Formats: sequence, structure tokens, C-alpha cells
Amino acid sequence: MESIISDSYAVHFNESAFDALNTTLAENKYSIIYILVDENTHEYCLAPFMGEISGDYVFEIIEIASGEINKTIDTCVGVWEALSDLGADRKSLLINLGGGVLTDLGGFVASTFKRGIDFINVPTTLLSMVDASVGGKTGVDLGLLKNQIGVINQPVMVLIIPPFLDTLEERQITSGFAEMLKHGLIRNQGYWKQLKEVSGLSDMKAHIFKSVQIKNEVVLKDPTEQNLRKVLNYGHTLGHAIESYFLEHKDQELLLHGEAIAIGMILEGFLSYKTCNLPLKELEDIKTTFLNYFDKVIFSDDDIDHILELLKYDKKNSHGRINFVLLTTIGKTAIDVQIPQELFKEAFAYYME
Ligand code: GLY
Repeated sequence: MESIISDSYAVHFNESAFDALNTTLAENKYSIIYILVDENTHEYCLAPFMGEISGDYVFEIIEIASGEINKTIDTCVGVWEALSDLGADRKSLLINLGGGVLTDLGGFVASTFKRGIDFINVPTTLLSMVDASVGGKTGVDLGLLKNQIGVINQPVMVLIIPPFLDTLEERQITSGFAEMLKHGLIRNQGYWKQLKEVSGLSDMKAHIFKSVQIKNEVVLKDPTEQNLRKVLNYGHTLGHAIESYFLEHKDQELLLHGEAIAIGMILEGFLSYKTCNLPLKELEDIKTTFLNYFDKVIFSDDDIDHILELLKYDKKNSHGRINFVLLTTIGKTAIDVQIPQELFKEAFAYYME
């Protein structure tokens, strides 16, 4: 399969990913290669990954605990200390072998250790393959607030190896599929229609390339999110607030990122219908499609009030305004839209009815 070329790096797929990795390792003469794993990727992905590396290099493995709750500066301190204790220098390489939490955090650790060392992302979840590992966003949460601390810094390469997905639970796969559906909604109506027909993992795998292509096109035009890149946040303004709320309320079952933004995409679809002329038929298509894959969550008035409070921390806000990315039709967006307060509750009512 061909590679997708970004500004300073490429995304390689399947077997050619290992060829590209072996060439890069041979050319760069890294002092030590550190592989960042969590307990899951340590068990299921590390050995097959190492088995594909040819050449005589020094490797060190650093393990962190999985889960959004561990996407913190404290975890970074642990990894910075491990790198330091294990003799990392500026010619060291960090390979991030894991899902979105790990590639975001590992990218941030690498970008800041000794003012920046090279890193490679090897995403092992669908969500990190189609979104998190591509585009150079790195960082951690601040308390419960998502991705408040970080930098945009591109990896040396991204390697997408779909067989890693075979070790994942279905819930994790469906969570990643939400980001693929988002790519159709924001940029490509035809792709949205294709995805609606998808059933099962092997069918999803066949669409990873297209999703990465859509994301890469957007990032190439606006790498630092001045304008166009904001479209990748469709569903994320309310989705992140919902995700943070669930992280905070330990009595509620945790929502995965894709599950939260799936709700966010229905809610923001409703706001699009009310303020950006998204046709009702398309809004209903969005709601039906997401509810086909994701269980409906019931929110109390109290839940909704708390979620709306969290909107003030969204990273797209400026000058005290909450800025939404909305749809004018499936495949096309409007950015920096402000929403009258009373529509939020109507949006939740529409989602739950
Ligand atoms: N996940 C959104 C972005 O990379 O811009």
C-alpha cells in the first residue's frame, strides 16, 4: 500500500511500515531506542513489533499505566525520569507503541525531553490510527480537562499496522469508528455514505487509509489550527465536556473518547440544524447512524448543567466566547459559530427523545 506524505514525515501502512522503520533506524544511528508501552501493548504488541525490526540496536522499554485517567503530567514526569535514568541523550529515539493516550503523552514527553528528541508513533487502536497519532498534536490533560497542556510537534513517521486491532475489544474499535464517521461528516459526503454500510472490523480496516488521507489533507493546510484544522473538532466541544464530566463522576461508567464525541456529534448536529441550515433529513441521518453503533446515554438536568459549565475550558474558545464547528450540510462545515445558551438544553432533549 502507498504511504501518505505529510509535510515533514510520512504515514506508512502494513508491511511497508516495517521497511520504512528499518530504513530510518539504519540511517539515523540513534544512541538508544526507547519503546513506550502500556500494560496492554506490552503484552500483545511489543513482541510482534520487535520481531519485525532488523539490525543491532540498544532498546529500553518504558511502561506506563493505560487509560485517560493516567494522561497526566505526573505520568510524564515518570517517563522523563525513566529516560534520564536509562541514559537518554539528544540522539535517542522514543517509539510510542499504543493508543491515543500513549501517543499523545509520548509525543509530548519526546518533544520536551532535552528540548526535543525524535519520536515515532505506532498506533495500536483504531482511534489512534485514524486520528491521534497523525497531525502532531501532543499533550496531556490538566486535572479532568482534556488536552489542556501540550505542543504541536510532528513525529519522524507514523506506522499503521492494522493486525494490532485484532487484540482489541469491540468497544474500543467502535470508539475509533466515531472519528472515521466524523471525517465523512466534515469533508466527504460520499465517504460518510460508504461508512454507514460498514459492518465488522475487516470492513473498517479497509477504510483506515481514507480517514488518514482526509485528516492529513486538513492538517497540511493548517498545521497549527489557525482556521481549517478546527473542523477536526466537530462534535468535540460538547463531546470533550461530556468526557470530562464522566471522568469526574466516578459513580458513572467511564465513556470512551469516541463514545463521548458520538454524542457530541448528534448534539452539534442539532445545533447545526438550528443555526447553520443543516437539513433536518441529514440531522436525522446523523442521529440514526450514531445510535446504530452507540448506546444512548440518559442525562439528568443536573448532569447537563455540569457539562455546560465545562464548556468554558474548551481550547477553541477565544475572548470569552465558546466557538463551535458546525455542519452546513454533510461534508461541509462552518467554524467559529456562537450558540444561544437556550439551544444547548434543546439539543440534549433532541438526543434523548
Ligand atoms: N484530533 C483533532 C486534531 O488533530 O486536530
